[in-house]
Parts: sequence; C-alpha cells; structure tokens
Amino acid sequence: MTTFPAQAERVVQLLQGHRSIRKFTEEKIPAATISEIIRCAQMASTSSHLQAYSIIGVTEQSLKQKLAEYAGNQTYVETCSHFLVFCADLHRLDYVSRAQGVDVTETLETTEKFIVATVDAALAAQNAAVAAEAHGLGIVYIGGIRNNPDKVAELLGLPDKVYPVFGMCLGYPDQDPEVKPRLPQSCVYFENRYPDLHSLADELKQYDQEVKQYYLQRTKGKRQDTWTDMVVKTLSTPSRTHMKSFLKEQGFPLK
Ligand SMILES: Cc1cc2nc3c(=O)[nH]c(=O)nc-3n(C[C@H](O)[C@H](O)[C@H](O)COP(=O)(O)O)c2cc1C
Repeated sequence: MTTFPAQAERVVQLLQGHRSIRKFTEEKIPAATISEIIRCAQMASTSSHLQAYSIIGVTEQSLKQKLAEYAGNQTYVETCSHFLVFCADLHRLDYVSRAQGVDVTETLETTEKFIVATVDAALAAQNAAVAAEAHGLGIVYIGGIRNNPDKVAELLGLPDKVYPVFGMCLGYPDQDPEVKPRLPQSCVYFENRYPDLHSLADELKQYDQEVKQYYLQRTKGKRQDTWTDMVVKTLSTPSRTHMKSFLKEQGFPLK
C-alpha cells in the first residue's frame, strides 16, 4: 500500500470519496464559506491568466425555482442552499480591451477562445467542488441548464460573449450515497501511445459487472445497467442540438 504524508492522504481521501449529492438539508451555507469556495475556484490554473469565466451564485428562491425547471425539473436545484452557475466569459476581456481602445473581436470569436473560456470555467468549478466537499458540503454539477441556455442567460442577465457552461448545487448532504466506480486505470491512462481498445475488452467487461452491482445495490434491484449499456442509451439520441445556434447568438461564432 502506498503511504502518503498526512496532508496528501487527506486530500487523496477527499478526492477519492467524491460522490454527487442530490438531497440537501435546509441548513444555509455561511457567507464566509461561500467566499472561501470562490477564492479556491479563483486559484485554479487559467489559460494565459485570462480568467475567462464568471460565477453567478443564485440564492433567491424564485430564481432557483426557475433554474430547476429550465434544467429539466431537477428539484435539487431548488432545494440546495446555493446554486452556482459557471459561465465561460469573454465579455470582460472584450470590455478591458475596448477600454484600452483595442478591438479584439476577431480573436474572441475564434473556436480557440471558446475552448479557453469553457476550460477556465470547468477548472474553476472543480476547484470549487473540492473546496466545498472539504467543508463537508455536497455538490452536484447541473449540465441540465443547457436544456434551456437562452432562458438561463436571460434570467441571469448574461451579456453577449458569456454563456452558462453548467450549474452546481451546493448544500449540506441529506444522503450518503456510495462512491460510483470509475473505469479501471488501464482504460483511461496510457503510456506513450494510445492503445488498440480491443486490448481492453476484458477490463471493460469486468467494469461492466462492477457497475451493474453498484446499480443493483443502489436501486435495490430495480436497475441493473452495465456501463456500456448506459453509454449506448445516453448516446443513442443526440442531445441539446440547439447549443450550436445558441452559442452563435450569444457571441461565440466559433470561427
Ligand atoms: C458537466 C456535468 C454535468 C452534469 N449534469 C448533471 C445534471 O444535470 N443532473 C445530475 O443529476 N447530475 C449531473 N452531473 C453529475 C454526473 O451524473 C455524475 O458526476 C456522474 O454520474 C458520476 O457520479 P458521481 O459524481 O456521483 O461520482 C453532471 C456532471 C458533470 C461533470
């Protein structure tokens, strides 16, 4: 067994103990805790130090209610203490450039800068998630807000060149679900070259059985999907095909 210094062990345990939480107590998160979570989000690495993201913290019940509906009636968006919306944000960069009398539109409209802003938002979010969990909070990401990205953008007053990448529910857990098994390391970490996936067939089969057991246990026998069943089910119908036109409308023409 690997031995770690005490601090590393605590961090590793925290990371490896992650599971999404979808049921929260009514306890509110103190403002100081939220502020610390956001400070941690801000310390994530950021491409060229551009910090091309913004975070909207939603606490107003009526707004959370609407966002829950827009996300496909995901009730935990409404019942969580604090809902964070992570946005890719090129608007602030546009603003500061214009303030210097420089027009950077051509650069901001590239696919590259769309990727930069989206990755920045995701890195900040994962730092926030880890910080929240370190405080004993539970989190779940909500990609569901991209079901209705135009309505979300309007509700939150997002300007041109800002789009909602995903949301995140934060709150004190009122459930204690099992950790969901991940793919074997041999299926995601390759040394030096990408392998022929046929060589991983046995590992995938074994993982399928592990996931099946996980669902059987979690749903008391009601669900028995394997991982590959779930993948095929999820991917058999294209989802959120409106994203391309939404992004264009929102100032991300992906040139
Ligand atoms: C970008 C992103 C979007 C997600 N969107 C949703 C969502 O809308 N609703 C939900 O219940 N879970 C959502 N999840 C949570 C995933 O389903 C979950 O992370 C995954 O099944 C692994 O489970 P775990 O987080 O418990 O380990 C999302 C996760 C990510 C990373």
